[in-house]
Amino acid sequence: MEKCKLTCKIGPSILNADLSKLSEESERLLDSGADYLHLDVMDGHFVPNITFGHPVVKCLRTKIPKAFFETHMMVSNPEQWVEPMADANVDQYTFHYEASNDIPSLCRKIRDSGMKVGIGIKPNTPVDIVKEYISLADMILVMTVEPGFGGQAFMANMMPKVEWLRQNYPELDIEVDGGVSLDNINLCAEAGANMIVSGTAVVKSQNPKEVMLDMRNTVMKGVLKNC
Ligand code: DX5
Ligand code: ZN
Repeated sequence: MEKCKLTCKIGPSILNADLSKLSEESERLLDSGADYLHLDVMDGHFVPNITFGHPVVKCLRTKIPKAFFETHMMVSNPEQWVEPMADANVDQYTFHYEASNDIPSLCRKIRDSGMKVGIGIKPNTPVDIVKEYISLADMILVMTVEPGFGGQAFMANMMPKVEWLRQNYPELDIEVDGGVSLDNINLCAEAGANMIVSGTAVVKSQNPKEVMLDMRNTVMKGVLKNC
């Protein structure tokens, strides 16, 4: 039997961490078992909130040279920041389907810059739009809240999107983001998500290591089931 290529990865979002200590907080999460860092970039236009951009990511990279950085680009005109983020040594550039007018050329631009390609969809965007872009992407992000803020309630009614993706693309990296916690990780795992973003539930926990380990164990069962 062919070996399953899917792995489970836990990527905490530092949005709700103490951003004045961004590198310490990031190191703390990596030391506690995070597989990657999910960096939420917001421009106050695509979403009604502002966080940080490539200058901050570049500084963080100098302190943390090795970890896998995913930037979740909640921005209009995502084409604009591909080169600066590549220059900051970002590993994966995840943009929103709703923000781009030319998805194929954006995907190629990201790949040509040496980064992996993630495509995110907001809760009101149907999942099957990804069909025509799937060969150009490394990962699909199913948002489980309206993007813009940490600490919102998980939308369980997004799970059919994850199930559809897993059924149609058994080896695809599928990420969920928004309100994910130990209370709903089983739903994400059963639906077939293998990349888990969690902000508040990890960052604000007394024991982030235990939370990420519990999440990993639950997701591993889902990954095995879906292999
Ligand atoms: C929401 C962001 C998420 C969020 C995750 O717009 O994309 O990454 O910060 O945080 P929680 O888990 O608190 O929803
Ligand atoms: Zn995010």
